[in-house]
Amino acid sequence: MDDMILTGKVAIVTGSGRGLGLAYAEALAAAGAKVVVNDVDPAAVEAAVAEIGDAATGVVAAVGDTASADQLVAAAVERFGRLDILVTNAGILRDKVLWKMSDDDFDDVIRVHLRGTFTCARAAAVRMREQGEGGRIILISSPAGQRGNFGQTNYAAAKAGIAAMARTWALELARGGITVNAVVPVAATEMTRTIPAFAPVIDEAERTGQPFPAWLRRDEGLGTVEDVTGLIVHLASDAAKDITGQAIGIGGDRLALWSHPTEKAVAFADGGWSAAAIAESWASGVGSDPETYGIPAPKPPAA
Ligand SMILES: NC(=O)c1ccc[n+]([C@@H]2O[C@H](COP(=O)([O-])OP(=O)(O)OC[C@H]3O[C@@H](n4cnc5c(N)ncnc54)[C@H](O)[C@@H]3O)[C@@H](O)[C@H]2O)c1
Repeated sequence: MDDMILTGKVAIVTGSGRGLGLAYAEALAAAGAKVVVNDVDPAAVEAAVAEIGDAATGVVAAVGDTASADQLVAAAVERFGRLDILVTNAGILRDKVLWKMSDDDFDDVIRVHLRGTFTCARAAAVRMREQGEGGRIILISSPAGQRGNFGQTNYAAAKAGIAAMARTWALELARGGITVNAVVPVAATEMTRTIPAFAPVIDEAERTGQPFPAWLRRDEGLGTVEDVTGLIVHLASDAAKDITGQAIGIGGDRLALWSHPTEKAVAFADGGWSAAAIAESWASGVGSDPETYGIPAPKPPAA
C-alpha cells in the first residue's frame, strides 16, 4: 500500500494514552510503523494498545527521569528489534501567574516537558547512533514557548527550551542522519478545553457533531487531533530526511514555518553603548518597532 510509508520502522510516542499522543501513535501505526505507547495512566495505555493491536506495545511510566527513558527504548528494541522514531509528547499543565506559582508547579512541568524531552531524546540518540541508520526525533513545543503566555511561566519556559534543544540536537545529530524538529501543534484536547475562549466552541462541536467553524480552523489553527498527525507522519518518513532544526506549526487548516529568532534591528556606537546613548536613540532606533509578546487572544467573528 502506498500510504504505508513507515513499514519496518519502530516508533516511541510518549504520553500517547489520550489526546494528541494517542492520535500520533494511531497514525504512525496506520502508516506501517510499530509503536511503543507510553503514559502514566495504565488504563489509557491498555486501551490504546488494544485499539492499535499487534503493531503496539505499552509501557506505563512517568517520563522525566533517565530510568523511564531507558525503559522506553528497551521496550522498542526488545519487542520490535530497533528504534527509528521518537515523538516526545508527554505533558502536563500547572498554570498560575508568577506570584502564585509554587516550586512544585514549576518543577513538575519542567520535569515532564523539558527533562522528559532531554532524557528520552538522549536515550533514543544513543540507540539510533548505534544502529547507524539515521532516525527521526520529533519534539513537541507550543505557541506558548514561541511567544510566552499569561499564567504559563513553567510551560512557556519548558516549551521554549524544547525548541532550543531541537536546534541544538539538529546540529549534533546531523552526521548520524538523525533529524530533529519541533512541532508546534494546536488541537482540541482536554488541555485546550482549559482555554476559556476555546471551551464553548469545542463543547458546541462535540454536542452537534459539526466541524469547527472556518475562522477557528484557519485563523486560530485549531482543529482536531487528527489534523496534526499528517505532519508527524511526514516528519517520521524518508521523504523528510532533509528537514531538520525547524519549528513547524500545525493545526486545523494551517501549516506554518516558525521563524528562527533573529536580530531584527541593529545599531552601532563606536566604543560601545552608554545608558545615556541608548536612552537617546532607543525610540527612533532599534526600539522603534518593538516585538509583540504573548499569544494574541482568539478573535471570533462578530455574530
Ligand atoms: N492541545 C494543544 O493545542 C497543544 C498545543 C501546544 C502543545 N501541546 C502539547 O502537545 C502534547 C499533548 O497535549 P494534549 O493536548 O494531547 O494533552 P493531554 O493532556 O490530552 O495528553 C497528555 C498525555 O500525557 C500524559 N502524561 C502526563 N505526564 C506524563 C508523564 N510524566 N509521562 C508519560 N505520560 C504523561 C497524560 O496522562 C496524557 O495522557 C503536550 O506536550 C502539550 O504540551 C498541545
